[in-house]
Amino acid sequence: MRKKIVAGNWKLNNTLEEGLKLASEITNMVTDELRDEVTVVLGTPYIHLSAVGKLTENVEKLHVAAQDCSTHESGAYTGEISVSMIQSTGASYVIIGHSERREYHNETNEQLATKVELALKADLTPIFCCGESLNIRESGKHERFVSAQITESLFHLTEEQMSKVVIAYEPIWAIGTGVTASSDQAQEMHKALRAHIASKFGNTIADEASILYGGSCKPTNANELFSQPDIDGGLIGGASLKSRDFMDIINSF
Ligand code: PGA
Repeated sequence: MRKKIVAGNWKLNNTLEEGLKLASEITNMVTDELRDEVTVVLGTPYIHLSAVGKLTENVEKLHVAAQDCSTHESGAYTGEISVSMIQSTGASYVIIGHSERREYHNETNEQLATKVELALKADLTPIFCCGESLNIRESGKHERFVSAQITESLFHLTEEQMSKVVIAYEPIWAIGTGVTASSDQAQEMHKALRAHIASKFGNTIADEASILYGGSCKPTNANELFSQPDIDGGLIGGASLKSRDFMDIINSF
């Protein structure tokens, strides 16, 4: 069965103390309230990984993610964090190719292909982000554009590797803008991406792939988005910084 996943992406927010407070509120809520078969992931800054990992280690449905990783395994790369470092903190997921990394750090599909491969080698589950800008959406080429992101970063994987990748479709025009893709727009893209994955890896892997939606997902719209047949959860930015909102999104299934 396809996994339902709600992942928070804290981005550049929260000191260590603030992050631990938020994580402990979420841990308590997940323990008390989680009704459904949902996997919850907290995408924290690197400095929180270890401490949040310890705090959540006994909650089976709760996992920790890094927000990026290096394209290198080790060596003279000042400031970089490798997949094995992430893995050693107890984190089990890593967000790869977020549009903010692509835009502000010029990350290319080719570099992201390397990151995905390194993550899988270190037993981390990649949450691979893709999505188009408003210009591309308005030109009508959005499906082709996002499919190409997937082709260039994921189509070199084996079937076994691909079966471990989580996809997050995040239209850039919906991230942090308060404008959400309509459930029809999101479903249309998720369906197209699943078909694109099937064209390379076959129906079984495509049917089992969790494809998350991201971009201004909130407690008020999560249920409608998550009810779509090809939307398997969300990657949540702003609303993951408030424990009550995040928990309400998790409980929207
Ligand atoms: P948002 O961010 O929920 O604040 O729009 C989503 C994301 O960037 O992952």
